[in-house]
Amino acid sequence: MSSDATPHVTIVEVSPRDGLQNEKGVVPTDVKVALVDRLSAAGLPVIEVTSFVSPKAIPQLADAEAVMAGITRRPGTRYTVLVPNARGLDRALPTRPDGIVVFGAASETFSQKNINCSIAESIERFRPVVARAKAAGLHVRGTISCALGCPYEGDVAPSAVANVASELLALGVDELSVADTIGVGTPAQTSKVFEAVLGLVGAERLNAHFHDTYHRALLNLEACLALGVRSIDASAAGLGGCPFAPGATGNVASEDVLAMLSTLGYGTGVDATAVRAAGQFIRDELARFA
Ligand code: COA
Ligand code: ZN
Repeated sequence: MSSDATPHVTIVEVSPRDGLQNEKGVVPTDVKVALVDRLSAAGLPVIEVTSFVSPKAIPQLADAEAVMAGITRRPGTRYTVLVPNARGLDRALPTRPDGIVVFGAASETFSQKNINCSIAESIERFRPVVARAKAAGLHVRGTISCALGCPYEGDVAPSAVANVASELLALGVDELSVADTIGVGTPAQTSKVFEAVLGLVGAERLNAHFHDTYHRALLNLEACLALGVRSIDASAAGLGGCPFAPGATGNVASEDVLAMLSTLGYGTGVDATAVRAAGQFIRDELARFA
């Protein structure tokens, strides 16, 4: 078999955003910039850099503008940022992201706790944001948080995930990310939820975002791979969690995902040794600052 036949998986590195938003201490801006630059130098094709959210909600990422100004753009890496509302897009656009992420939820209570509005209100809030971002030529991801379970409501029905997915698709998002925000999914439930969403959109527009409890995230990701999903979120050193999702475990570690994909025969174009070094770098820094 020629190397052209090696199936490719896109790794989306989320440690600078999902990882650092959940640290107790505030990591200095220059450390965040150094982390992003190390990750891009490792060949990661997409990096979620930061969030243009309310600094009252997430004080850890209040320096979003400074981080975006400080990073060195590597051609070949897409730098994306979270945007919760029009105000967030106003702040984000001058910093020249390549893509934005709007984030809704599959559970009403989590939507209220995380972004202070109902699911239906969030879709209306995203509508002009997505339209403006698309008009500006940006890639747009729509994330569905708590798709495999909610810290407040418990089980989440696959049909609830599919409903939000179809609303986000109708807004014109390029990609959907189905997120196990608190790391409670099992492979069987993962398959059910992803199958429900795959009834609405092709696997090439679907991303899997898992937090890792008992190393189940890798099994869940294998279930996603079996369904044709080829975009996976991961976080160096397994950092991550959400301040509005009590009990959330860290994201699945990029180091673990890269090792698994290599074992299964998938290519990523990412230098796993450099990612391990970036993970060690941020671990050491967090020991100093967090
Ligand atoms: N950037 C900076 N400040 C913002 C902002 C943004 N994108 N959106 C709102 N604000 C400020 C407003 O200016 C206002 O400030 P003030 O109190 O000094 O006047 C305050 O936040 C409240 O604004 P409001 O529009 O009423 O928002 P809200 O209180 O309903 O909060 C969100 C809604 C979405 C802005 C907020 O819940 C949030 O930022 N959530 C993010 C959660 C998150 O990132 N979770 C982790 C990722 S899953
Ligand atoms: Zn997450």
